[in-house]
Amino acid sequence: MPDKRNNALSSSSLNELKLKNRLIKAGTFENMSPNGIPSQGLIDFHKRFANGGVAMTTIGYCAVENAGRLNANMLTMHEDFRSEIVQLVQGIKRHDCKVSGQMGHCGAFSKNHTLKRRPKGASGGLNLLGFTEGMWFCDAMSLKDIDSMVKAYRDAAKFMKSVGFDALEIHFGHGYGLCQFLSPLTNHRKDNYGGNLENRLRLPLRVLAAVRAEVGDDFPILAKITMSEGRRGGLHYDDSIEICKALDAAGIDAIIPSNGTSTMNPMLMFRGDSILPALLRYERNRVMRFILRLMGKKMFPSLPFYEMYLLEQAKRIRDAVKCKLVYIGGATSGENFTQILNTGFDFIQLGRTLLADPDLPQKLAFEPRFKSRCTHCNQCVGTIESPQGIHCPQFTDATAL
Ligand SMILES: Cc1cc2nc3c(=O)[nH]c(=O)nc-3n(C[C@H](O)[C@H](O)[C@H](O)COP(=O)(O)O)c2cc1C
Repeated sequence: MPDKRNNALSSSSLNELKLKNRLIKAGTFENMSPNGIPSQGLIDFHKRFANGGVAMTTIGYCAVENAGRLNANMLTMHEDFRSEIVQLVQGIKRHDCKVSGQMGHCGAFSKNHTLKRRPKGASGGLNLLGFTEGMWFCDAMSLKDIDSMVKAYRDAAKFMKSVGFDALEIHFGHGYGLCQFLSPLTNHRKDNYGGNLENRLRLPLRVLAAVRAEVGDDFPILAKITMSEGRRGGLHYDDSIEICKALDAAGIDAIIPSNGTSTMNPMLMFRGDSILPALLRYERNRVMRFILRLMGKKMFPSLPFYEMYLLEQAKRIRDAVKCKLVYIGGATSGENFTQILNTGFDFIQLGRTLLADPDLPQKLAFEPRFKSRCTHCNQCVGTIESPQGIHCPQFTDATAL
């Protein structure tokens, strides 16, 4: 047995939820729900991390309504899929692992061809993802649309609690629907939902209040945010502190400060090798391949990877809020985990590290300084479009079932 236990293996709680350790599998959209129906592969994928010892796994991108799906192969949190989603959640929970669901809405950025109208977001314009499906434009949401989006979150929260999710993670970041309201780059509204930060926070805070009202005070709700969009005029690190203060005051249980956007600046989220080669490997659409070849180098530049690359900025949030903080971004070893927890974070979410080493928590028990073999080649990011679903193509034993 090890002489000294890594502190990431100590138990803790998130609101009333007891977690056996501090390690949480981050939401990584799996692409294992053809036509929105969760497959056995999706259950097996999460079981892999459960058996590896994480305290909680996060089912990536659970759309709160059909209009919130980026594409037609995403889960929708709706009664129509109750039995399949119950099977998914309960199937994972049997393996001594809690299950969180990431509540997502894509807003104006979608290639969901089952949507028989333009996608809607904070403001109208081009639909950057929909080109290949002939969905060129998006519309600005009316006040009625805003009310119905809030209702969609509330209904989804009720549904998700009823099927057995242990926690809900609201996605406020990465350029998706709620982030489109927060960002001055995508929110050009002239009403109460646009303009200063107080107004841009109005819809996100309404959503949080609606979800909280539905699940009750003792149910854990996490928020994933983008600290900086890395674009002139976009959200910046100082804004994120104000956003976190507002979420904290509104009763969030934990904040996950991430970075960048899928729409404009994904490499800030990942760092490491450019995701372009991986995207090209799996992209089948010829128009999209052409766009990627033309603009990909500029959109997805390699950014030098360094361990815990978001720590310096994320720790500024520690002093600003009372809620728990979950670190994410390049945490790869037992030594990293110790440093992160000693800096004041309560939990650590792991994405690529676990895709390469699903058994990491178990290994840490025997080797407190265990270091993941993930090289941040970012090939896993491209597998989002793979028919097999996401996996680590470099260490194929990792996600082999
Ligand atoms: C294949 C893949 C899919 C991802 N999908 C999502 C997603 O659905 N939702 C989300 O918030 N983040 C998603 N992410 C980002 C991760 O949650 C995380 O923020 C990022 O990978 C940095 O953490 P890491 O260094 O531990 O991988 C994804 C990452 C990867 C590698």
